[in-house]
Amino acid sequence: MHTLELSRRYTLVTGASSGLGLEMARMIARDHHGNLVLVARRLDRLEALAEELQKAHKVDVVCIQADMTKREDVTRTFEEATAGRVINAAILNAGVTYFGRGLDHDFEHFEQMLATNVTSVVWLTQKFAHHILEKSPSGGVMIVSSLAGTTPTPYQAAYSGTKAFLNNFGMAFAEELVDEPVSLTVFVPGGISTEMGDKSGLSRKFKKGDVGMMDVDVCARRALEGFIARERFVVPGALNVFNDFILRFAPRAFAAAMAARIYRDALPPKE
Ligand SMILES: NC(=O)c1ccc[n+]([C@@H]2O[C@H](COP(=O)([O-])OP(=O)(O)OC[C@H]3O[C@@H](n4cnc5c(N)ncnc54)[C@H](OP(=O)(O)O)[C@@H]3O)[C@@H](O)[C@H]2O)c1
Repeated sequence: MHTLELSRRYTLVTGASSGLGLEMARMIARDHHGNLVLVARRLDRLEALAEELQKAHKVDVVCIQADMTKREDVTRTFEEATAGRVINAAILNAGVTYFGRGLDHDFEHFEQMLATNVTSVVWLTQKFAHHILEKSPSGGVMIVSSLAGTTPTPYQAAYSGTKAFLNNFGMAFAEELVDEPVSLTVFVPGGISTEMGDKSGLSRKFKKGDVGMMDVDVCARRALEGFIARERFVVPGALNVFNDFILRFAPRAFAAAMAARIYRDALPPKE
């Protein structure tokens, strides 16, 4: 299959109101002259981005306000995105984490995380794969996962579980699609400097510019490069590639203990 074409076609990006999703959307418009469907809860941010990209790059940008924890919003996202247009590429990037002791993790929050990181992604992957097969000559889907899904990551235990699901789901589904004219890419970053660090408290320790923290534009560029090349499993950055490789040979308990050491001192003090 030839490389994925983003130019003048529509790419849907979930979680486009900040961080990695916003940066990928910006690059698709600026560097590829691609049209966009932007999805997130914060409509004001999506509309500001849409205005910026439409003016600067003369592309069409559609905004959909949707909450990925709500089944009806996930369904509506697909329906609105595909109403009268072909979505050639879908980037399922919206995600949330919880950083803290697993003993303290509120179950309601866990369920919202599961719905956002896993359930909505499974549903949308399947729907867009069908849509692309029916309507587009050769599109692609990209799932944004995390290295927390390849290494058991203490203090983000449930998040780590959701991303482990995505890694296996994505790689298994990609193999099923290998002879079809639709590709599935799993993008697997390590730490990125985005709002997620502030929301979760991880930025208490992990700051922009620190070793292991990628700049969001560098990360977004690698994501799109891998997506366009139809790579199946994309780990951005030499250090992340090295860690991912080495940790495959480590006993799981050792890997978890190493990760715990890295994350423990970013925890808030005990009350
Ligand atoms: N930052 C990191 O260190 C890191 C590392 C590895 C992987 N990742 C992954 O990268 C992806 C992007 O994260 P980021 O770092 O760019 O974080 P971010 O800046 O916090 O962006 C998260 C995006 O997801 C959207 N989102 C969250 N919950 C949603 C919901 N219920 N419904 C719809 N949209 C929702 C947010 O939009 P609204 O709030 O406007 O809805 C926002 O646009 C995530 O899947 C994350 O797990 C991040």
